Amino acid sequence: MTRRIAVTGSASGIGKALVGMLTAQGATVIGVDRDTADVRADLSTDEGRTRAVAEVAELAAGRLDGVVACAGVSLPDPIAVSVNYFGVVRLLAGLRPLLTAAPQPRAAVVGSIAGTQPVDQAVIDACLRDDEQAALERARAAVESGAGSRLYPSSKSALAQWLRRTAVTADWAGAGIPLNAVAPGVVLSPMAAPLLEDEAMKKVMDEAVPMPLNGYAEPGVIAAALDWLISTGNTHMTGQVIYVDGGADATLRGPEVF
Ligand code: NAI
Repeated sequence: MTRRIAVTGSASGIGKALVGMLTAQGATVIGVDRDTADVRADLSTDEGRTRAVAEVAELAAGRLDGVVACAGVSLPDPIAVSVNYFGVVRLLAGLRPLLTAAPQPRAAVVGSIAGTQPVDQAVIDACLRDDEQAALERARAAVESGAGSRLYPSSKSALAQWLRRTAVTADWAGAGIPLNAVAPGVVLSPMAAPLLEDEAMKKVMDEAVPMPLNGYAEPGVIAAALDWLISTGNTHMTGQVIYVDGGADATLRGPEVF
């Protein structure tokens, strides 16, 4: 049976690399992106998310063997919360019924090492209460107070916490659906390219994200980890945030966190 996999962020970077990998394995891939994709939708809005779920359901003919949410933005703006948190959790909730129709369903999301950096706790609390309006209000306040740079880390921290809570519930583990995250360090995708071109910014990033093992990663490296997480070989890993980060997490957080 050909596996049917939905991948968000399919037009660029990690998502695009994963689409190539899955297609080469013979899977049927349904790409979702605000750019060119099988399903064009803006995942920062409820309208876009609802339409994406409906169109994926139609293309998947009611059954999805895997969902991978890669779409994200790394801006110091409330949109980071809309896309990286609500754009992921709402889409996964919407697509879950299609996963339950598959014999060996799998799901994965993309976090970030940024999720371990300083955050805005009020934004995270609102995310975890599933209150998008409150999260966006707090995010706007963070921007006004000059703390906009905390929004991307907050969105990824909230996503990791949501994952830890959600993966083991009846809806996911109880329904036989492993749900995990890959958290990259710096990836050589169009998202990071402009930052790396700026010498001063590159220095800040290298200090914030030290990668002693092989430096910056190609998108395909992250895609390969996602590929395994949603493979049928993954029968028992769930609720994990896997740092594929060249050693950044182990360097920054040391031996106490494991
Ligand atoms: P990218 O910018 O190459 O690709 C992101 C894709 O998401 C693009 O195709 C874009 O059109 C899509 N997207 C953005 N906003 C959207 C929206 N509102 N609706 C629908 N699609 C939307 O970036 P990359 O590096 O492939 O990022 C993939 C994931 O990896 C993101 O979640 C990002 O936060 C995460 N990540 C990236 C790192 C990096 O250094 N590039 C490091 C850590 C995490």
